[in-house]
Amino acid sequence: MTQQFTFSYRLIAAPQDLSAPDQALLTAANAALSRAYAPYSQFQVGASVLLESGLIIEGNNQENIAYPSGLCAERVALFYAGANHPQDPIVKICIVAQGDLMPEGALLSPCGSCRQVMLESEARQKNPIEVLLVQRSGEILVLETVQNLLPFGFSK
Ligand code: THU
Repeated sequence: MTQQFTFSYRLIAAPQDLSAPDQALLTAANAALSRAYAPYSQFQVGASVLLESGLIIEGNNQENIAYPSGLCAERVALFYAGANHPQDPIVKICIVAQGDLMPEGALLSPCGSCRQVMLESEARQKNPIEVLLVQRSGEILVLETVQNLLPFGFSK
């Protein structure tokens, strides 16, 4: 028997087509990106996390000369939220990136470790986290839940 896993996502043509609150979240992600510490990869990533209270947490990639010691933007933001606002559910996360590491038309989407952490954040609060993936073309992919980014994920 063959089974299928499919999911739907929204494709927003450009940042100005986002709602005003989503544009604010994107602005925060871009601000975070501008403060990224990525001297080794020259690939800057910014993540902004909207909490239910309205608070926006910003994170960016933090690299290290001992490469594996660095951390991705998404996890910097999510761990900060978990460390400081554990009772304030995460509503959505917006991710932006810039740099030549990825070829021009490549899809910008979080790494496996960040997906795993996002999945646990979602499971922990028992409410979906919307994911906004900003592409270099200006398009934005909007996913309803982290589960769509990590099908058959390792989760309780
Ligand atoms: N990076 C992120 O911040 N998020 C991801 O999802 C993938 C990769 C960072 C890690 C490293 O600092 C740089 O991008 C190049 O891999």
